Amino acid sequence: MHTSRSRAQIESEVLRGNEGMPEERHRGPKLLRLLTDRHFALRAARYALGLPVPLDTEDRRVLEQEIFPFFQRQSGIRTVLFVGCDWYTRHYERAFFAGRNYWTLDVSPAARKHGGRQHVVAPLESLAGHFPPDFFDLIFCNGVYGYGLDTREQCELAFAACHSRLKKGGCFVLGWVDIPQRTPVPLDSLAALRHFEKMTFPPAGSWRYPTATPYRHTYDFYAK
Ligand SMILES: C[S@@+](CC[C@H](N)C(=O)[O-])C[C@H]1O[C@@H](n2cnc3c(N)ncnc32)[C@H](O)[C@@H]1O
Repeated sequence: MHTSRSRAQIESEVLRGNEGMPEERHRGPKLLRLLTDRHFALRAARYALGLPVPLDTEDRRVLEQEIFPFFQRQSGIRTVLFVGCDWYTRHYERAFFAGRNYWTLDVSPAARKHGGRQHVVAPLESLAGHFPPDFFDLIFCNGVYGYGLDTREQCELAFAACHSRLKKGGCFVLGWVDIPQRTPVPLDSLAALRHFEKMTFPPAGSWRYPTATPYRHTYDFYAK
């Protein structure tokens, strides 16, 4: 019988690129694991029932318990885009953005099932083809740069599109993994990011919030 994995084990899987719960990508052993690992079976049951299935890592704790609540408290935040969807983000609309005009976007058609009710299948680079200028109050782009958004051209197009689709005063949260294999283009070399103002995130006291994870997951806060 498998036992529950510790946060350190999950973070070590994330560091290796498995995103902590690779079962969906390994369908073969799934039935066996359902029968032998009650924690896995519980997670699978929760997912099937539409209940939250959080990923127990420090960067998720920061995102879900510090960053989301900070923005939830701001009544002016009505239109939200969350870029990149996976099994551990499916509950974000209901748990954190109910009552807001919440959108998700992912380039992969397979990610649709993890998205919100309003979901766009498209690369972030083409955001301007789907939304008018000055549309969003808040855009999250977490774990996308370095995970598919990899070339300089992609990053410039994607971040410029985020800037143009944010309202004046809107916020852009860029979550990224600060290790060489996940930083394909130095962020400080990107012209598109220079169009934003760096915004202090009060709980961190800085515009940049590095989390205590082995893969150095970092949140950067920008305002238009
Ligand atoms: C590691 S997952 C991150 C999921 C989620 N945003 C999070 O908070 O962890 C990366 C996701 O980004 C998507 N992705 C990669 N490149 C993209 C792009 N250029 N535009 C939109 N989505 C992209 C992938 O399809 C994948 O679902």
